[in-house]
Amino acid sequence: MGTTPVRITALRALAWVAALGLLGALVACAGSLGAAAGGSNAAAGATAGGGAAGGLSAAGTAATARQPEDSALARTALQSSFVARGAVGLDRLQQDDVQRLCSEAEVTGQPVSAAVAEQIERAAAAEVSWPSAQFLAAGDWQRGERVAQSGVGRQWSDPPEAPAGGNCYACHQLSARELAYGTIGPSLLGYGRLREQLPRGELERLVYAKIYNPQSSRACSAMPRFGAHGILTQEQIRDLVALLVDPASPVNQR
Ligand code: HEC
Repeated sequence: MGTTPVRITALRALAWVAALGLLGALVACAGSLGAAAGGSNAAAGATAGGGAAGGLSAAGTAATARQPEDSALARTALQSSFVARGAVGLDRLQQDDVQRLCSEAEVTGQPVSAAVAEQIERAAAAEVSWPSAQFLAAGDWQRGERVAQSGVGRQWSDPPEAPAGGNCYACHQLSARELAYGTIGPSLLGYGRLREQLPRGELERLVYAKIYNPQSSRACSAMPRFGAHGILTQEQIRDLVALLVDPASPVNQR
């Protein structure tokens, strides 16, 4: 398992770029793979022990100001090292405008301006496709937990029509009992319990929008845009909302 040509090539590209000390420039690519691939971390975490994508994300956190030409070199390295396979095309290496702006910010060490961040967040919030309050209230945390635990989907080896998982554990702690979780995102332990004072329904809407398009509340979020990119369905997102807010869910157990 895991020694596929695609992954070997990707890992080799990473090693190569890392050797050149260009890790910061990869943030953009991690973002674009994540957005299109159902979470680059999700994808690699599920079958390759977090290898390639884990490296990409870790690289992002270590980023400091880099030269723009380093970034171009890293892009060239990625483009010549990844190969299209199955349902996974090289279009995943193409950045959208937000990824480009946020990557430039990372590369240059100059954060996007408050005005640009607000614009990105407003556009992302407008993209959220809202279900009815009744639909949202009918979430099931047990189903949500299965989605959070599943890293399947959007890899070349996955059947394209099979439902994808959210692989939330790749980046978040969601249960006091789970020992294996990533720390790219904040721990979500006690998420609903700590926000009990919010009016019923409001917290659900906040979390729904966050999962649907994380850029709606943080312009340069490293979290995949699960709803906006069609990775998860409205129903899956609703069940994840229940996982985070339901007092009975492991998230809210001590
Ligand atoms: C690639 C890593 C990654 C994955 C996968 C990921 N997240 Fe996140 N998440 C983050 C990061 C980084 C943040 C903090 C930045 C932000 O707010 O966008 C975050 C923030 C959040 C927040 C807001 C936390 C707060 O304190 O307000 C919620 C809720 C959340 N994630 C839920 C989820 C759920 C549910 C999933 C699975 C469907 C998921 N995340 C998958 C990286 C990830």
